[in-house]
Amino acid sequence: MSALVCAAMMISFDKVSKRFGSNFALRDVSFDCEAGSVHAITGENGAGKSTLMNLLAGLFPVDGGEIRLHGKQLSPKSPADARSLGISTIYQELTLLPNLTIAENLFLGREPVRLGRIDRSGMREQARSMMARLGSGMDIDTYCGNLSVADQHLVEIAKGVSADADIFIFDEPTAALNAPEVEKLGELLASLKAQGKLVFYVSHRLDEIFRFCDRVTVLKDGRHVETRETRALTRDGLVSLMVGRVLSKFFPARPARSEAAPVALSVRDLQVQEGGPAVSFDVERGEIVGLAGLEGQGQRDIIRALSGLEPSASGMVIKSGEAGSAPLAFDVTKTVRSGVGFVPEDRKTEGLYLSLSIDRNITLGMLRRLNVWQLVPRRHDVIAELMRRLNIRSAGARQEVGELSGGNQQKVMIGRWLAAGIDVLLLEEPTRGVDVGAKAEIYELLREFTKGGGAVLTLSSELLELLGLCDRILVVRQNEIVAELDGAQATEEEVMRHALVGRADNGVHVDA
Ligand SMILES: Nc1ncnc2c1ncn2[C@@H]1O[C@H](COP(=O)(O)OP(=O)(O)OP(=O)(O)O)[C@@H](O)[C@H]1O
Ligand SMILES: [Mg+2]
Repeated sequence: MSALVCAAMMISFDKVSKRFGSNFALRDVSFDCEAGSVHAITGENGAGKSTLMNLLAGLFPVDGGEIRLHGKQLSPKSPADARSLGISTIYQELTLLPNLTIAENLFLGREPVRLGRIDRSGMREQARSMMARLGSGMDIDTYCGNLSVADQHLVEIAKGVSADADIFIFDEPTAALNAPEVEKLGELLASLKAQGKLVFYVSHRLDEIFRFCDRVTVLKDGRHVETRETRALTRDGLVSLMVGRVLSKFFPARPARSEAAPVALSVRDLQVQEGGPAVSFDVERGEIVGLAGLEGQGQRDIIRALSGLEPSASGMVIKSGEAGSAPLAFDVTKTVRSGVGFVPEDRKTEGLYLSLSIDRNITLGMLRRLNVWQLVPRRHDVIAELMRRLNIRSAGARQEVGELSGGNQQKVMIGRWLAAGIDVLLLEEPTRGVDVGAKAEIYELLREFTKGGGAVLTLSSELLELLGLCDRILVVRQNEIVAELDGAQATEEEVMRHALVGRADNGVHVDA
């Protein structure tokens, strides 16, 4: 190896292994990464991407092999140790303290000091400019607990990027961001690269890997598959490295719609807040309807109101199914009892019981008509069949959900409702953090569900997902439905045109 190449080589993974109990999360992983580059890490859910990054971030030690920084062994003892070695991590999971403001979170543990006291005005000033770099005009005095998940991720990114570091780790940073925010992030990555930093970019999103990253490493089942220049790869080539086969179709075909499909959910004059705009629409049985629009325009409020999470909502919602028709109460328990399932965007805090096993989490959905959950037998046959259909990667049905990789947690969440025999499914971000192969599997599951007479209402920050999946798209702007488009015909431009009408700041993040 020439001296020149050696100089550029920043991090080397050499036969790195990591075990959890008897399971290998990583086995003999070897590849090199160069300074001044953005290096993508990709692969299926549970492939070991986060584990590899966590080794670098000092969360736990390697079990075998070694990591080298500029040729010298690197073994951070703790996250603080990793930070002091110049490694900054932007976590996949949110780490902000809800009872502190944006500014306080950004400077937690490194508050600027002036004359022996915390320089609050200096801190706020710097916080404002950090958020502005990300194109966000958020009020830096807001408590983080009051921010949407997307905004919390932006703060998380600002925090990580502002660290004085040589190596930056982004673990699925854009899972919660919308298109304009992703663009800003791309600019940020380019500027880090220009400063000679090494950026690790863990992602399932192929377009971002090709746009932002110089090289890509594919992991599969804890093993290194390939490290290549992105420009030497095609999309299909990358997918087949990831899933080990060519994905013939990503989105399932839309079945022909019958003229007179019965309505599953009839929404009339739904008002999330008193005095706010009202929306009316139907979702038919057999149909997947998507709510599109810029972040924070009210799509989420509509889904949350229907799921019973906005008790002050008003209007008339009639749900019809096998068991007849009845008005839906704005009450979570009653909504679930009447056969409506809800998959929230943040599965960790709202959806799953992380310390309970996979089978318990799935069984919980079946309890909607019962009160004494301890008495419900585990339906081993149903659960085994579901886990097989969902292709959940785990050590078994008894494994704690908190130990699963992100994408597999999402499958448990959806599986719970499929097992529960509901007929309306409300989904926020159906495939957040889910790998390409599993995405296709989830789309297929949703289609099967609607073919059996189920109805789906969903929202997604990935517009391409809505365009590929939905039968009908409702564009939401400022809490109103401003357009209804045929999913098979609609284009990205068309949706964006409706979403942006009247906005001078085309495409810039808009707060609700
Ligand atoms: N703390 C833990 N305890 C037990 N097993 C773990 C733990 N963390 C990860 N694992 C296991 O290690 C394997 C790799 O998980 P990891 O989180 O690194 O996957 P990933 O590639 O980041 O997946 P995703 O795309 O879903 O985020 C998985 O089988 C997972 O269940
Ligand atoms: Mg991960």
